[in-house]
Amino acid sequence: MIDEARLHDFIGKMLGDLGGASSVAMVRIGDALGLYKTLHATGPITCAALAKRLGLNERYLREWLSHQAASGYLAYDPLTATFALPAEQAMVFAVEESPVYMMGGFDTMAAMLDNQPKVQAAFKNGGGVAWGDQAGCLFCAVARFFRPGYHNHLVPHWLPALDGVVARLEAGAKVADVGCGHGWSTVLMAKAFPKSQFIGYDFHPGSIEDARRHAQAHGVADNARFDVAPAKQLPDKDFDLVTCFDCLHDLGDPSGAAAHIRSLLKPDGTWMVVEPMAGDRLEDNLNPVGRLYYAASTMVCVPTSLSQEVGTALGAQAGEARLSELIGGAGFRRVRRAAETPFNIILEARI
Ligand SMILES: C[S@@+](CC[C@H](N)C(=O)[O-])C[C@H]1O[C@@H](n2cnc3c(N)ncnc32)[C@H](O)[C@@H]1O
Repeated sequence: MIDEARLHDFIGKMLGDLGGASSVAMVRIGDALGLYKTLHATGPITCAALAKRLGLNERYLREWLSHQAASGYLAYDPLTATFALPAEQAMVFAVEESPVYMMGGFDTMAAMLDNQPKVQAAFKNGGGVAWGDQAGCLFCAVARFFRPGYHNHLVPHWLPALDGVVARLEAGAKVADVGCGHGWSTVLMAKAFPKSQFIGYDFHPGSIEDARRHAQAHGVADNARFDVAPAKQLPDKDFDLVTCFDCLHDLGDPSGAAAHIRSLLKPDGTWMVVEPMAGDRLEDNLNPVGRLYYAASTMVCVPTSLSQEVGTALGAQAGEARLSELIGGAGFRRVRRAAETPFNIILEARI
């Protein structure tokens, strides 16, 4: 027996979901053509005026603007036939430094769709998809997705939540940022603590090249350098601080990496592990953030880990208990949750 009311509710939900999916291409066009930033700068504007200003085809633009208004992304005033980007929507689509800038999320959705054939095949053969073989510029998308969180939280909130770490960074510390990707976390820390030395490591050479470019562009090349290295073979030691941003669960052998990191830390050093926010049980993660992370985990994190030796495949939603157990198993005697946001948990591990 079909319950008509429940069917009605579910169809309503699916319309919302399909609408969201339809927004991936539309939002990325708006980003690539500078539409959101222009709308943010101009205030309410007609389609013709916006088309003229950006040199775009008015017919296409009218359709795009209509979609954006139907989505609630733009406000439409029928009296003046103008479209406007409300301040709250601007924080999501136009203001790159905002804590809720989400353009990287849309890029990640596009990269995940590109990746579908490879991951789908892996469902049958059980193999992995190497990080460097992921379709599209997944690396750029992921870096862009995480950057607003790091920009707004890392220096003002997360580092101060660690015991004694800021004082050491201010005095001059040696820091490894493992699995640094495009190096935004490394660059932010290097900028904030010029007396400290930062080395970003990642096994993906393309990401390390990008990280070097970012360090140059942001004027931190003197105290931040980047090397290609797998997390279990870091070619340096005596670190005051080691950081892992959203990468521990991607490693093939996170336990092996944890033991290696422990061996490279000074006895009073700190390991800072930033991981996706997750509860310990599946039923704790049946929410909008869990939904996004389980998708990313299926399409990116699990295949990345399974493509490497050991292939632990922790998954993006490992949860604090599982992470603490793994970190403790590597010889860290104290592990605690130092901070959190809706998207991340920040663990502090000490020897
Ligand atoms: C989700 S990305 C996070 C990148 C970066 N930390 C950030 O927050 O933007 C995961 C990173 O882990 C790196 N990675 C995966 N397995 C690795 C390994 N075994 N050794 C070193 N890096 C690894 C990938 O190349 C990728 O840059």
